[in-house]
Amino acid sequence: MCGVVGYIGSKEAAPILIDGLQRLEYRGYDSAGIAVLCGGKIESSKEVGRLVNLEKMLAIHPIKGTRGIGHTRWATHGAPSQINSHPHLSSDGSISVVHNGIIENYAELREELSTKGHKFISETDTEVVPHLIEQSLKEGAKSPVEAILRTLKRLRGAYALGILFRDEPDAIYCARKGSPLIIGLGEHENFIASDVPAIINRIKKAIYLNDGEVAVLRADSVEICTIEGVAVVPEIKEISFQAEAAECAGFETFMLKEIHEQPRILRAMLEKHVSADGKIDIGSSLSPDYFRKLNRIMIVSCGTAYHAGMYGKLLLENLTGIAVETDLASEFRYRDPKIDPGTLIIPVSQSGETADTLASIRMAKEWGCRICAICNVEGSSVVRESDAVFFTNCGPEIGVASTKAYTAQLMAFALFALYVAGVRGNLTPEQIKSYLTDLQEVPDAVHYVIQKKEEIRAIGEKHHDGPSSLYLGRKFNYPTALEGALKNKEISYQHAEGYAAGEMKHGPIALINEALPVICICTKTADEVYEKMLSNIKEVEARSGRIIAVATEGDTEIAKLAGDIIYVPAVRDEFTPIVNVVGLQLLAYYAARARGTDIDKPRNLAKSVTVE
Ligand code: AGP
Repeated sequence: MCGVVGYIGSKEAAPILIDGLQRLEYRGYDSAGIAVLCGGKIESSKEVGRLVNLEKMLAIHPIKGTRGIGHTRWATHGAPSQINSHPHLSSDGSISVVHNGIIENYAELREELSTKGHKFISETDTEVVPHLIEQSLKEGAKSPVEAILRTLKRLRGAYALGILFRDEPDAIYCARKGSPLIIGLGEHENFIASDVPAIINRIKKAIYLNDGEVAVLRADSVEICTIEGVAVVPEIKEISFQAEAAECAGFETFMLKEIHEQPRILRAMLEKHVSADGKIDIGSSLSPDYFRKLNRIMIVSCGTAYHAGMYGKLLLENLTGIAVETDLASEFRYRDPKIDPGTLIIPVSQSGETADTLASIRMAKEWGCRICAICNVEGSSVVRESDAVFFTNCGPEIGVASTKAYTAQLMAFALFALYVAGVRGNLTPEQIKSYLTDLQEVPDAVHYVIQKKEEIRAIGEKHHDGPSSLYLGRKFNYPTALEGALKNKEISYQHAEGYAAGEMKHGPIALINEALPVICICTKTADEVYEKMLSNIKEVEARSGRIIAVATEGDTEIAKLAGDIIYVPAVRDEFTPIVNVVGLQLLAYYAARARGTDIDKPRNLAKSVTVE
């Protein structure tokens, strides 16, 4: 996913733009560039590859000026190349544009502009934007804003735009539709950014631009209007993330830092949502009566958030008596799931900008459904398009591989399910008190697992070099198996498959041999799951499989079967996924470390998939 930054003030723009782009590196990219206005000229510098290549170029050829725009590109149209990197210029070089999103009708616009004499040098969709603005001025637009508004009305698709005009040195411009864009408010300086971490060290207040809005930033003012040119009085938000939240804070990677943050975040969630007398507050604007009448829930999400949804489904069904379904957002959009306004849609999203999840929300709203999101980013599109939100409040998650957001999503589902079960009377106050007492043990249990990281590191380093690995789990820990496999895939690049352990005999057992690490989640349970998992492990052992078990501290039975064991403290069955997954996060982390991959910015991945 691309990153956009912009600056106008009295300081040199280039270092500020580079700093902002560095803070957006977690989004994933393949090239970067900046454009700065100085002495009546727009000067650009663009490089393929890591940001450091652009920095080296700027060290040789510095660009001076106090207003500029910058971009990290995650290629959609046109291969990663210097020519395709942003910013892109108009024919006469007087307009420079950076863009996050996709202009779906760029081909027809390109053709139309070519007939009017415009020459294109890149393969990108973005390049039509500066040319269209230039053409709008030629055809009579009386101001940069009017030219931008005319242009936006021609575009189909999604955009977060930063725009620089050579002949308008006292302003930079931006516009948003479908891709997030934030305006940072400073002292005699203002900023634009795709996400808060880019400018978190420079501002205390921000404006989240809405879809269809255009902004003119000067050093001492910000003016916003709609695409129809109607002035907008913006809502100014205090930025709640602490600056250090977007720093590595002494850890070797953001991912490792975020793994370590989990106990604190989980404790904070419990403190925020559970009162001293055991009352649960989910901060929802949906009334208790709404939940009493609720007859169906549909959870939609992607990737790691989908695994959280699978957990939420099982928990909600077990505790509330409501029919719950979960689906991949990217598949949900093709369905006709016969839902009616009585169905509650729960989108789960860390970033709040995942295109498929947003598409599902919009579909469900057409059906008249209420939307209660579980999300981590205030002001994000999912938040703005939902009726109610359960914020996970875990601060910016910079590592592309989600860790703290995932366990926070699981905690959110646990609190949500207990709240709904209480208002519906499926659980008595005494039962809820018992669950909450057990839930309070989870943060310390997570902390205990993290303290085992050196033992887990040895296991990760021992098993990292095979071509593949298999993760097995049941019931509440079937999603844990899928999530553990996804973590391993996305950061160590070793193929990994998560499977329902009960399905092993229906096919995957054919894979078992001495070269295949089989990670079995086999913590003790009050029901028959533990025994069934032991049977699965014995089947693997009988075929010389390499067994790594996640097991309950003190379980000696498993020690007879597994070659390596990640011991975790005993917690209530329903809450084991929050604890068990931390062992798998660390297992994947150290496997990736042994394989020398770029853990915070794995190849080909973006932190938030804002394109479909
Ligand atoms: C998580 O490790 C992955 N990076 C990815 O699967 C992610 O969970 C997915 O893209 C959904 O993102 P969201 O939670 O921001 O919607």
